[in-house]
Amino acid sequence: MRVLVTGAAGFIGSNFVQLLLEERPDTKIAILDALTYAGNLSTIERFRSSPNVRFFPGKIQDPTVVRGILEAEQITHIVNFAAESHNDRSLLESGSFIQTDVAGVHTLLEATRDHGLEKMVHVSTDEVYGTIDVGMFTESSPIEPNTPYSASKAGGDLQVRAHHITFRTPALITRGGNNYGPWQYPEKLIPFFVTRLIDGKKVPVYGEGNQVREWIHVLDHCTGILAALERGKPGEVYNIGDVNERRNMEVVKILLEETGRGEDLVKRIPDPRKGAHDKRYSMSADKARSELDWAPTHPFEESLRATVRWYSDNQDWWRAITAREDFQGFIRRFYGPSLGDDL
Ligand code: NAD
Ligand code: TYD
Repeated sequence: MRVLVTGAAGFIGSNFVQLLLEERPDTKIAILDALTYAGNLSTIERFRSSPNVRFFPGKIQDPTVVRGILEAEQITHIVNFAAESHNDRSLLESGSFIQTDVAGVHTLLEATRDHGLEKMVHVSTDEVYGTIDVGMFTESSPIEPNTPYSASKAGGDLQVRAHHITFRTPALITRGGNNYGPWQYPEKLIPFFVTRLIDGKKVPVYGEGNQVREWIHVLDHCTGILAALERGKPGEVYNIGDVNERRNMEVVKILLEETGRGEDLVKRIPDPRKGAHDKRYSMSADKARSELDWAPTHPFEESLRATVRWYSDNQDWWRAITAREDFQGFIRRFYGPSLGDDL
């Protein structure tokens, strides 16, 4: 297999490349990443010099770049992780989300078709289903995204669906739950809070922190994506979820315990997502379990505590990111009005 992995200088893509190198050592890997604020060479330093890995800077929506790599590297498969991925940023600016999450997916699909690739896996999210009060989403639930981010991901998913129906392009979709684990850019709930708690700073909980997310360890997500790459059927959608539903405050309590901090560091702020704050995510992964012969193996609480320790042990990595003006500028702009002196 000769795989183009896009967005692999980010959180999940880098974990996926590491998994491939360990579990499928014969695979040749080309990485295409635009190195946006969320993509960092420091995240892939550990395997960049592997003889099986080649790194190409560039955007997935650039057909010349994509086609050049497919030809030069004789690519047979694509796994697309590249995306603008943060809901809160999509409230400030969403044009780049459309460019990457919709137009970029379209470019990859056209290239997959024209170059006769064997398979393209498009990595998507449970957020395209919207929010659910009771019960679980399945792969046949309607697509009802509520935020500019989830709407752009849904746009990419619909491109995959249409390309497969129209041209028989051998593409499929995986939809993951909220991921946690090592190498996550420190703007998402868990790494943002852990890195602030380590420094004794207050953590901003939106509203009462009663929203429910379904958490999956990043390596379980990656084994699910690998199973879809190897055994998934083109045209299908596979939910890759674990059943770890937790209210945000339940997660925060574990983070406080593991960092040895108290409730005095929790600051409830007016919800910046307003109407776009999905109350609950929950999906059934029965199809992936039965058809892909896949199952998650990381127990939630134990693995979350191990994740906290990883951030504590790898401060050089995230401090280089949080020290940057692009990180601090976003934090000031987004949280400044509500955190004030606690910024
Ligand atoms: P991330 O933000 O950590 O990484 C995204 C990567 O994509 C970065 O390396 C960035 O440089 C790169 N990138 C952005 N725009 C690009 C472009 N136009 N061309 C090439 N590269 C580009 O994201 P993540 O958390 O690793 O998520 C990866 C994928 O998984 C995304 O598609 C996301 O929607 C999906 N997903 C994420 C979660 C989660 O909890 N993080 C859950 C389910 C699905
Ligand atoms: P996040 O990690 O951004 O993932 P998503 O929006 O994809 O679910 O947020 C997870 C939950 O945590 C979500 O309900 C919003 C909440 N949250 C906070 O309360 N404070 C924060 O500073 C952040 C980043 C998130």
